[in-house]
Amino acid sequence: MKKPTKKEIQTALLNAAQAARENSYSPYSKFKVGAAVLTRSGRIYTGTNIENASFGLTVCAERNAVFAAVGAGEREVVALALVTEKLPGAKINSPCGACRQVLTEFMKPNAPIYMAMLDGTKRTVVTKALKDLLPLVFNLTTVKK
Ligand code: THU
Repeated sequence: MKKPTKKEIQTALLNAAQAARENSYSPYSKFKVGAAVLTRSGRIYTGTNIENASFGLTVCAERNAVFAAVGAGEREVVALALVTEKLPGAKINSPCGACRQVLTEFMKPNAPIYMAMLDGTKRTVVTKALKDLLPLVFNLTTVKK
């Protein structure tokens, strides 16, 4: 079988994130987020944001996707896609600071983050390397994974 192109991988990840977003449990913010990660083994895992009446217990879509992968035995995420709706005036929605730190545990600095916003049927995508979203990460480099 032909190796998928970068563009095909990006589209597959974005589609998976968009589908996961449909399962968002966000009755408080009403802001649905979907995420999908591609692991080194070639598998895709997804997550969505899950809120709680005790607001601080909410877990973001990105962390749920990464934790699904790691919980299944994966140890390296090679790309992440994130899909949100377009809020008025927003240029792009990017992963929150807490998620960025969690991502650095399992992604290499140059790994791509595909950030997409839905505006009707239009999907606008911005791509950034993780290192550009979180420079000077906190890292205990000697810890064995
Ligand atoms: N949220 C995410 O799922 N990912 C982010 O990167 C930022 C915020 C969720 C948390 C909450 O359910 C809603 O979006 C509003 O903050």
